[in-house]
Amino acid sequence: SDFIMPEIKLRADNKDDDTHLRVVDIDGYYIPTFPIEDHEKHFRSMPGWKARNDDVIISAYPKAGTHWVWEVVSMLVRRKAERIPEIKEMAMMEGITEQIFESLPSPRIMNTHVYFQYLPNDFFDKKCKIVYIIRNPKDIAVSFYNHHKKLLEYEFDGPWDNYLQRFIQGKTDYGSWFDYTLEMERFMESHPDYPIHVIYYEDMKEDSNTEIAKLARFLGTEVSDELIRNIDSLCQFDAMKKEKNVTEDVTEWRDNNPGMYRKGQVGDWKNWFTVAQSDMFDSIYQQKMAKSKTKIRFCI
Ligand code: A3P
Repeated sequence: SDFIMPEIKLRADNKDDDTHLRVVDIDGYYIPTFPIEDHEKHFRSMPGWKARNDDVIISAYPKAGTHWVWEVVSMLVRRKAERIPEIKEMAMMEGITEQIFESLPSPRIMNTHVYFQYLPNDFFDKKCKIVYIIRNPKDIAVSFYNHHKKLLEYEFDGPWDNYLQRFIQGKTDYGSWFDYTLEMERFMESHPDYPIHVIYYEDMKEDSNTEIAKLARFLGTEVSDELIRNIDSLCQFDAMKKEKNVTEDVTEWRDNNPGMYRKGQVGDWKNWFTVAQSDMFDSIYQQKMAKSKTKIRFCI
């Protein structure tokens, strides 16, 4: 059932329109609304769906670069440097039905932002490969803010300072970045033999060619250096913005202006965070991530 986020009272002059964010509440876990009939029923049935041995799952907290890595992996498994006509949303676990899932041709390159407990158990029984993307949470906060403001389904139009508090508290679809990142770390520590490949957005920006070569090795696809270079170039931000934006439904976006390919940089957070906000975020980060071994770069 559609649900309106409980008000977060963060500003003295708090207005309803600052706090309203429309999501779906699954027993206290928030996911976005998707245009499927009986969406909640389909979502709840997901643990029972059947996997295939060659399914690949791209997992990440939202805005970590899922579109980018999904496009790269989709080209790698096809071993062709050719634009993928499909869009990432068609292979998003929490946004499809079992029937759609079964209709997808192998190898299925799926993607998701949900915790593993909500996914098909069979993925884990079959040890399907997982690619896990991590991005620094300051850039994620900025990217998610723009996502929430621009996508009309969220009915959200609040100010940045209030939003940053919301992000820190995890009062968004998919919950807290901190909880998600710690949970993924816990999964990897408790399953040291599980085939999961970690990829950092910052490393991809710094040297995408090397990261794509590592991905190819993890996926076990034999590709030449030239093919990697060509895939890399098709998946650069400007190329994807130009060629994938046309696949977006403009009516879903504020002012009919699709915003999935926004800036594609490391460190844009410096244009949004005040010094005080950045200091506050750093101290919360240090507290929450005190036990974490995940090494994240906030700039390159
Ligand atoms: P920004 O909002 O900072 O620009 P996701 O795909 O997980 O939703 O993440 C979206 C973020 O990845 C956005 O970040 C988007 O611009 C960026 N992105 C998308 N395609 C990219 C690409 N080819 N190269 C670099 N960044 C990309």
